[in-house]
Amino acid sequence: MCLPSDQLVPVPYGLDPAEVVSVILNYTTAYQMLHRSAHIESGESVLIHSGGGGVGTALLQLGKLHGLEMYSTCSLRKKKIVTELGGIPIDYKAVDFVQEIFRLTDDGVDAVFDGIGTKSLAHSYRVLRTGGRLIGYGFGSKSKDRLNRTGQILSNVVNWIRLLALNLIPDSRKVIPYSIQTLKRRKPEWFREDLQIVFNLLKQQKIKPIISTRLPLHQAVQAHELLESGSVTGKIVLICNSL
Ligand SMILES: NC(=O)c1ccc[n+]([C@@H]2O[C@H](COP(=O)([O-])OP(=O)(O)OC[C@H]3O[C@@H](n4cnc5c(N)ncnc54)[C@H](OP(=O)(O)O)[C@@H]3O)[C@@H](O)[C@H]2O)c1
Repeated sequence: MCLPSDQLVPVPYGLDPAEVVSVILNYTTAYQMLHRSAHIESGESVLIHSGGGGVGTALLQLGKLHGLEMYSTCSLRKKKIVTELGGIPIDYKAVDFVQEIFRLTDDGVDAVFDGIGTKSLAHSYRVLRTGGRLIGYGFGSKSKDRLNRTGQILSNVVNWIRLLALNLIPDSRKVIPYSIQTLKRRKPEWFREDLQIVFNLLKQQKIKPIISTRLPLHQAVQAHELLESGSVTGKIVLICNSL
């Protein structure tokens, strides 16, 4: 692929290419949401939804490095990974996360990262304390319904409207939508700077992407089936040459 040189970011020498490819989307997303969108400060408390997912595990690892107090929704089977990454797990299938956050914190959290959308957005907003920020992103992978393309677009539009509508509530809490594509278009220099920071953290072994499995490229179908089964924690990396 030929690209203009100002769109390239050098990869530090000696890194595992599978780990490099695994950090680009999820860790840059997590880094930018924490630092560019939420302007998170050390010691603040956060609720990270889907802590066992790709973006969730990245948020937990980067949040721990930044000294955050972290609560995270996940299913029972992902409780262990969330705990290992420094989060306090909340089994969203067994308890109401709003009640649980207020039980654990008294007055809520400083920021919520919500990639779920739908009804979750209003609930996430409720757990923000004064000055809190709700970062909404993604909304893609949680639908149990097999929506066609038009259905997906409509569902996304509804989610963004729900998110932005929360900003009309006249209080000191804020709602901030995040999209890596939009931010990269608007601020390409931030993308390069932030990806470089992420690569350096990987080089210093301060972050470690979870790679659930590496498959040869010709098993791409199995990779998709595994992803769709919802049983995967972390990334599946397709290897082009050999294993
Ligand atoms: N906007 C951007 O720039 C950007 C960048 C990267 C990704 N994304 C999007 O972000 C979303 C997440 O991506 P991902 O790669 O992290 O997905 P993923 O690895 O598939 O993880 C999704 C996670 O959601 C959990 N989950 C499902 N329903 C939930 C609920 N109601 N409450 C809490 N957790 C729930 C699942 O685990 P358990 O239910 O088993 O706990 C799973 O761990 C996707 O929509 C993706 O398209 C957006």
